[in-house]
Amino acid sequence: MTAIHPSILSADFANLAAELARIPSADAVHVDVMDNHFVPNLTIGLPVVEAIRRATDLPLDIHLMIDDADRWAPRYAQTGAESVTFHAEAAARPPQVAQDLRSCGARAAMALKPQTELAPHLNMLQELDMLLLMTVEPGFGGQSFIDAVLPKISAARRAADDLGGQVAVQVDGGINRETILRAAEAGADTFVAGSAVFGAADPDAAVTELRRLVG
Ligand code: DX5
Ligand code: ZN
Repeated sequence: MTAIHPSILSADFANLAAELARIPSADAVHVDVMDNHFVPNLTIGLPVVEAIRRATDLPLDIHLMIDDADRWAPRYAQTGAESVTFHAEAAARPPQVAQDLRSCGARAAMALKPQTELAPHLNMLQELDMLLLMTVEPGFGGQSFIDAVLPKISAARRAADDLGGQVAVQVDGGINRETILRAAEAGADTFVAGSAVFGAADPDAAVTELRRLVG
């Protein structure tokens, strides 16, 4: 099922409640948590995520770009998030993290940076509800889609289909009206878009348009 997840990284952080009200058609809100260690940027932590949870009825898709995922990921699941994504590169025991997330009632998702190979992580797929393939280096919005990730998206789609199609394949970074077509053709079904949504005059129309293109 196609899903469009606007990233609030490109929204006005001083007016988050109002920004969330501008994307009623979104399938979920993508929330980027950065710690200035795993990535060279710093955003928000648990208190703000909890406030966002209270400010919208939309499901939250939390993308953790932080070290020590084993310790922190379950804490984010406890906020009532629909899904929590940790990075494979930041987790000591990915299967345990995934299990902890599900125990907290969240969908379990794992992310791979653009240069992280899929093959060594394929055996994790069966523990996951979603695999996120980063299509930019994590850390900043507004970067260009890396086409070299497309074969990895195709390989993930095949692996997910082999497991019965229950695992969503999400892409994040540089998604716009052009690149979403390439990502969808490669097999992605869940699309994060920050600047393409919140940089538009009408963010909700941008969400609807992205969905129409790949729907
Ligand atoms: C980048 C974040 C993305 C970011 C995407 O590290 O994970 O979610 O908001 O922004 P755009 O869509 O502008 O590339
Ligand atoms: Zn993200």
